[in-house]
Amino acid sequence: MLNFSFQNPTHIHFGEGQIAAIAKEVPLTARVLVVYGGGSIKTNGVFQQVSDALEKHTWFEFSGIEPNPSYGTLMKAQDIIKAEEIDFILAVGGGSVVDGAKFIAAAAEYQGDDPWDIIVKQQPVHKALPIGAVLTLPATGSESNGNSVVTRDGTKIPFSSPLVRPLFAVLDPKVTLSLSDRQISNGVVDAFVHIIEQYLTYNVNGKVQDRFSEGLLQTLIEEGPKALAPETKDDLEVRANIMWSATMALNGLIGAGVPQDWATHMIGHELTGAFGVDHARSLSIVLPALMQVRRQQKREKLLQYAERVWQITAGDDNSKIDKAIELTVQFFKKMQVPTSLTDADISSKEIDLLVSRLERHGMTALGEHSDITLEVSREILTQAI
Ligand code: NZQ
Ligand code: ZN
Repeated sequence: MLNFSFQNPTHIHFGEGQIAAIAKEVPLTARVLVVYGGGSIKTNGVFQQVSDALEKHTWFEFSGIEPNPSYGTLMKAQDIIKAEEIDFILAVGGGSVVDGAKFIAAAAEYQGDDPWDIIVKQQPVHKALPIGAVLTLPATGSESNGNSVVTRDGTKIPFSSPLVRPLFAVLDPKVTLSLSDRQISNGVVDAFVHIIEQYLTYNVNGKVQDRFSEGLLQTLIEEGPKALAPETKDDLEVRANIMWSATMALNGLIGAGVPQDWATHMIGHELTGAFGVDHARSLSIVLPALMQVRRQQKREKLLQYAERVWQITAGDDNSKIDKAIELTVQFFKKMQVPTSLTDADISSKEIDLLVSRLERHGMTALGEHSDITLEVSREILTQAI
């Protein structure tokens, strides 16, 4: 196992009715900015629950944070933060809103010339406003990690700081009942790929991390399709298991002390930036191709994945790996997401563009061995046709 330091201080309030817990979590003296997205929280009762919980607080609103939150939108929040002397940010929404809140919180306390430098120059965050989160879409793990992805001019760039990790997060599975099938699928697939990025690398004998990861993958394989099936889709236990899996997938626990890949995400970000493909759908397109192209480098872990996650015990090693990739594709198809560029109406002619964007963004040495060069990315994209 590799050395690691691990701390996850986000206080989780999980279960039905837990939005009320924010009344005690947000200091009564705070001047709170509630930030949210396009308005889903106004129609599914979440906004009302938040308003009720903040009855005794002084709070303001900032809305309109879009999926793949844009720098331009997020910077608009700075005006109200200054005018109203905001000192606490409460994010209410999915990963985009929580990620957006993180940038808003860091930009508000940024001492340099231009807050964009936090992202483009990866300037360290020295101070940020405190953040709380009410999560409405289980997917990204953003509610209890320090990561954020901001988009500017079609380019998605991540930044990370422990100072923007939410102090608390409310996870009420009931609020996920208003999600569309598409968002449910996206969430399950995003969480699945987060686990894979931290698991499917090379063996460092991290038994705890591996078995946690395998348990989470199996949970998503079992529960994901149930959240789409008419007879089980409103089952709160299904929703609860998905929600907790997605948080656990990217709260730092399974990735501590093991190598990590993240090439699927970095290549996927270019599909989103160039063609507007939903984040999770970019991953379901890239991952099967990456598994195929990297089968030698990932051989030992692919075999472990085949045997422990999919119970494939018959056949030689190559056929076990083939079968595991095939079952991964089948699972994605069950989750109704595309598994090739063709499925997303992207032709092979676009591969040059995607590779040039990877180059422009410095994505020239990806993966757990930093050996996914532009040529290997091209091979992966070609395999994904
Ligand atoms: O804007 P509203 O009206 O709220 O609608 C949203 C949005 O249109 C809707 N939605 C959310 N909760 C709902 C709901 N609709 C009905 N009922 C509910 N309960 O869903 C749509 C998508 O929301 P979004 O927040 O964009 O989805 P997601 O949670 O998948 O977040 C994706 C973003 O997270 C980033 C992605 O790059 C992308 O920008 N990621 C962040 C990560 C992190 N912070 O660690 C890691 C991930 O790999 C990912 O990159
Ligand atoms: Zn993701």
